[in-house]
Amino acid sequence: MADSNSPIADSGRSPFVLVANRLPVDRKVDDQGNQVWRTSPGGLVTALEPVMRQHDGTWVGWSGSPDEELAPFTHEHFHLAPVKLSAADIELYYEGFSNATLWPLYHDGVAFPQFHRDWWQAYDRVNRRFAEQAAAVAAEDAVVWVQDYQLQLVPQYLRELRPDLTIGFFLHIPFPPDELFSQLPWRSEIIRGLLGADLIGFQTPAGPANFLRLVRRHLHLRTRSDTVFLPDGRLPKVRTYPISIDAQGFADLATSDEARDYAKKFCEELGNPRRIFLGVDRLDYTKGLIHRIRAFGELFEAGDLDPDHDVFVQVASPSRENVAEYVKLRDEIELMVGRINGDVSRIGRPPILYLHSSYPRLAMAAMYSVADVMVVTPLRDGMNLVCKEYVACRTDQTGALVLSEFAGAAEELRQAYLVNPYDLNGMKSTLLRAANASRREKQRRMRALRKQIFEHDINRWADTFLTDLAQFREAR
Ligand code: G6P
Repeated sequence: MADSNSPIADSGRSPFVLVANRLPVDRKVDDQGNQVWRTSPGGLVTALEPVMRQHDGTWVGWSGSPDEELAPFTHEHFHLAPVKLSAADIELYYEGFSNATLWPLYHDGVAFPQFHRDWWQAYDRVNRRFAEQAAAVAAEDAVVWVQDYQLQLVPQYLRELRPDLTIGFFLHIPFPPDELFSQLPWRSEIIRGLLGADLIGFQTPAGPANFLRLVRRHLHLRTRSDTVFLPDGRLPKVRTYPISIDAQGFADLATSDEARDYAKKFCEELGNPRRIFLGVDRLDYTKGLIHRIRAFGELFEAGDLDPDHDVFVQVASPSRENVAEYVKLRDEIELMVGRINGDVSRIGRPPILYLHSSYPRLAMAAMYSVADVMVVTPLRDGMNLVCKEYVACRTDQTGALVLSEFAGAAEELRQAYLVNPYDLNGMKSTLLRAANASRREKQRRMRALRKQIFEHDINRWADTFLTDLAQFREAR
């Protein structure tokens, strides 16, 4: 690594530690052909950068490559403490238990969760390793914030190793109801793992409600309001913290000259259609892509949408490509898009433009700023940040957001055009209603959506969680 890959200075122990499956950096090749680290563009990374800087924080995570033994190093404002994953860990812990057991189970079982004992063992082993790394880099009485479903056992292991620490946990995906969660052969272990934290945060109120019910049912512990009473006297709190985005950052990006140029070119390349419908998702079965594409297929086939004037652009960024369900889904989508385009296309004007690729933030902001209708119709989603990014980029106060009732964001974004993605006719009529709404109607809705997002941005999310955590620490 050629760039700022300097080892961590001083004692190497931080008063603030973030633990996530992935480090906040990606590998890139620079103009000279050197491999360098680049800070990942995600919202969580952006939000935590000031917190990390202020508290000299360290981020514990995996580099993304197999079998890589990296010493701790510093990149920009981040001290990084890598955790090594072998090829077998990746297969069993990451692709297996995290993404073929927990991911489908926590998303309403929209794909069948698979239960394998060797996947669980790997999950347990890798969680212990993350906890050991966090314990090694945390200063006396430090605050440690653990992120997401891949690391639900870390709070308990970390507390065993370092009882002095204050530990927070946030789950970025939905937390399922009792009936689903209880399928897990290791349900009690996971609940106990989470209870190692002083504060457990979820995206929507269903999270705490489901979790507290499970605590009572499987661990027979007493709970009152948002508090769990543990036999050792600790009183972990369970609360809701809907995550958000850097709204102002997106608005600034969308109004930059570069984004405007990009947007103009994008429209020209599409043949300056009258209306652009846009979908932007990781290629994941939770995102409802099949239902969405079917709805567009029927609208084009029936003549409700006109391929001479309307286009549906679907960006599907590659994701978890070694997990069988994702491979299958990609084939299904590509077959379906190919069929619809084959049936409905005019020469040079395919009604569905399917892009199996990731785009930089600038390109996304540009596309959002010219999409007449943004289509966000997951079958289940913890929050969904794409819909918030779209709203932030609509500095012209127009555009229409069609949003699934099953995205966490639907609880805040009540002025979107809400749909049930399983109801094909309902989705089709709402897509048309959104596309045909008057400018005034769109503006009325968009203003309300923008107010919500600018008042509840990612900084507020991180501040609220960390302030609560600090308070509970005082009370301990
Ligand atoms: C979701 C999860 C994150 C995860 C991301 C990308 O947003 O909540 O924890 O990092 O998907 O998935 P990946 O498996 O590529 O890290």
